Amino acid sequence: MMAHHSNQQIHNALQDAARRLADVNLRDLMTLPERGDLVFGFEDLQVDCTRQPIDNDSLSLLLRLADARNLADQLDEMFSGRPINLSENRPVTHCALRQPERLQSETYKELCAFAENVRANRNITAVVNLGVGGSDLGPAMVTRALAGYHDGPACHFVSNICPTDLHDALTTCDPAKTMFIVTSKTFTTTETLANATRAKAWLQAYGVDAGAAMVAVTANADRAREWGIAPSQIFSFADGVGGRYSLWSAVGLSTMIAIGSHAFSEMLTGAHAMDTHVRTADFDRNVAVIMGLLRVWHRSYLNAQSYGLMPYDQRLGKMPSWAQQLEMESNGKGVNRQGQPLDSPAAPLIWGAAGTNGQHSFFQWLHQGKDIVPIDILIALRPAKGLDNPDGQKYHRMLAINALAQAEALALGASNPRTPHRNFPGNRPSILVSWDKTTPYTLGRLLALYEHITVISGFVWDVNSFDQWGVELGKEMANSLQSGGTLDQFSPAAKAFLRRLNRT
Ligand code: F6P
Repeated sequence: MMAHHSNQQIHNALQDAARRLADVNLRDLMTLPERGDLVFGFEDLQVDCTRQPIDNDSLSLLLRLADARNLADQLDEMFSGRPINLSENRPVTHCALRQPERLQSETYKELCAFAENVRANRNITAVVNLGVGGSDLGPAMVTRALAGYHDGPACHFVSNICPTDLHDALTTCDPAKTMFIVTSKTFTTTETLANATRAKAWLQAYGVDAGAAMVAVTANADRAREWGIAPSQIFSFADGVGGRYSLWSAVGLSTMIAIGSHAFSEMLTGAHAMDTHVRTADFDRNVAVIMGLLRVWHRSYLNAQSYGLMPYDQRLGKMPSWAQQLEMESNGKGVNRQGQPLDSPAAPLIWGAAGTNGQHSFFQWLHQGKDIVPIDILIALRPAKGLDNPDGQKYHRMLAINALAQAEALALGASNPRTPHRNFPGNRPSILVSWDKTTPYTLGRLLALYEHITVISGFVWDVNSFDQWGVELGKEMANSLQSGGTLDQFSPAAKAFLRRLNRT
């Protein structure tokens, strides 16, 4: 994994530390007097790493690894807009989207004014976002997460080219009162353009002026215009904003229409607070650096192939899917930034689901399976907006107690030598991430934290976390199969499948 000499020494020392800690049980680590040092905080956000298989020595080594990888310089380069996305020769500018200056900019004010007009328009009762990947997962997740703030028109998110997706969304929509937001950074994505074409046909079938009912959010305004979106209905964002980092940009328009521009701005402010923490806090107290380094620790030194995210919040149920694209499209790479093969894998598989539901499903595997899978358990201390009353508090407390109980059960286990099926080996790591209450501000802060975890671990792994060439081949193959050209490059099995498909 490591390139030059000091890197190699730190790498070896980390491997030694991993071997040494393999013989130490979390139960014992957790009672060490200095264990409280592993609780990190920023504002009311607490990151409790006491259930992590680390001690002061291994953490110091991870911090030395960050130094050897010039993490501080790499973060500076990102924040200062250097073109660190080498394969596309672009800067990485999603953090600029939440700087206070952006909130004062004319383009942001125009976006807010548009959103407020839609919210005030009684003739618009539904907004349908047509987008996929980063043009869907972020806004869909945030809109659901902030359901307590949703006082605008109904919002639907249609991503899949599967015809059921658009069909099912439209069954509840009135064609005369529906607005479509075609969200695509490139404005070339097959699924999104196919859904947009279908949506246009649906409007026209009901005699509605599609031009007025469709807007675009894109980094490629020319293509949107060519497709037929009126220039005054196109909202742009910069090329330097990667799709999976884009929910803060105009890509968040559907969210802004749902929750209002004020709440949306609060979310940006929370994200900016996290950016400032990441830039200014010492690495040994920096929640994003610590969590990013722990990702590296689990993946590169403890051989964890997957990493779970368990938000104890039904409304955050889409967060694992958002974080899955974020991490796996960013760091799921086989070469470093210079194009040399990596010695060992980078990104873990990211997965997860809302608690407590997961407890009654796959948590069995987490507790007693032979794989050790690190997880983050996420929980707000207080109920969501609208439920902060005695009834909501009572049930939210039950939820939070469950989150804590899972963290403890995973770490401590319970020995039942005479009934092996009742034996809980324990020693299973988690990070307990908690905050006061889920608001636009605290959600923005949390999501920015997870972006930084991905970016920081990507910097340490020396991968380009901002391109996604791995998705291209499948797209090309689908295009050439679709166009009905020669099948020479395809396998006999593919030709057989096509024959079956064509017969139906
Ligand atoms: O195919 C992958 C991808 O390019 C993602 O990186 C992106 O978030 C998604 O497709 C959608 O892309 P676009 O916003 O350009 O339609």
